[in-house]
Amino acid sequence: MPFWIQSSLSKYSNLTPYSILSGLGKVLFMPLFFCEEAEAHLYLRHLNYQNQLSMKKHYALCSLAALAIGIFLIQCSSAPTESKKENVTSEIKPLYGGFSSAELYGEHLVTICACNDCHTPKKMTDHGPEPDSSLWLSGHPASMPAPAVDRKDMAERGLAVTDFLTAWVGPWGTTYAPNITGDETGIGMWSEQQFINCIREGKLKGLSRPLLPPMPWQFYKAMTDDELKAIFAYLKSTKPIKNIAPAYEPPTSASAM
Ligand code: HEC
Repeated sequence: MPFWIQSSLSKYSNLTPYSILSGLGKVLFMPLFFCEEAEAHLYLRHLNYQNQLSMKKHYALCSLAALAIGIFLIQCSSAPTESKKENVTSEIKPLYGGFSSAELYGEHLVTICACNDCHTPKKMTDHGPEPDSSLWLSGHPASMPAPAVDRKDMAERGLAVTDFLTAWVGPWGTTYAPNITGDETGIGMWSEQQFINCIREGKLKGLSRPLLPPMPWQFYKAMTDDELKAIFAYLKSTKPIKNIAPAYEPPTSASAM
């Protein structure tokens, strides 16, 4: 075997598709030129040099592609971290539900939970009874009687009756919505914990008998501590109005319950 083939093959002892192709090229091309061995060797060196150049270009391109992929992957992995950070920030609950004070937050909650519907006396208007803003949350007026109905009959028929939503006659007896203003006849003397117990446990004054219908404490008890505290802060801040709603009256007969 001519030395130029031997030498070029020994150079490519590490056989790769690239080296095989390159060696084959040399074997096929050289007889066509009928050159001297030295010239042929020079030519092959030239080919080899070009191969090396094209390999270098190839490596350079591969490196660029790898760099681009690397940058892309780093960006992909950093993007969710940033959005996670954003989420964490937006998950932080604003103080007082976005209101500027506990009292304003509480006023908002009392409004949307319709506490006024039952706890504020009404005045009659052309389009029915409306909460009397001068008696806000002061409960069923002490001097006002409950609806005049046959209680025994109502209880036996399982009906609940009301006129202005502050007094209710039903199978459970007669209940009157109490005063919940900041006055001492309302919740003025209550502690915050007493109020939380009242709504969470459904206990009159937070420590006495179970609350009866229609006070919907079973739903309000799902409120968070922050919400209950805000409501209490608002109730404490309301205009104090003196009024002690009539006491609860049990049903006319125990069997009616
Ligand atoms: C559907 C009518 C109704 C609604 C609405 C209502 N209440 Fe009542 N609430 C009552 C009645 C009636 C009682 C008295 C129940 C009893 O005597 O067992 C009561 C009792 C209470 C008591 C106990 C008072 C005490 O002296 O022990 C508190 C506190 C109270 N309600 C707060 C609220 C708050 C705050 C809201 C709104 C978030 C509200 N209520 C909404 C009817 C209602």
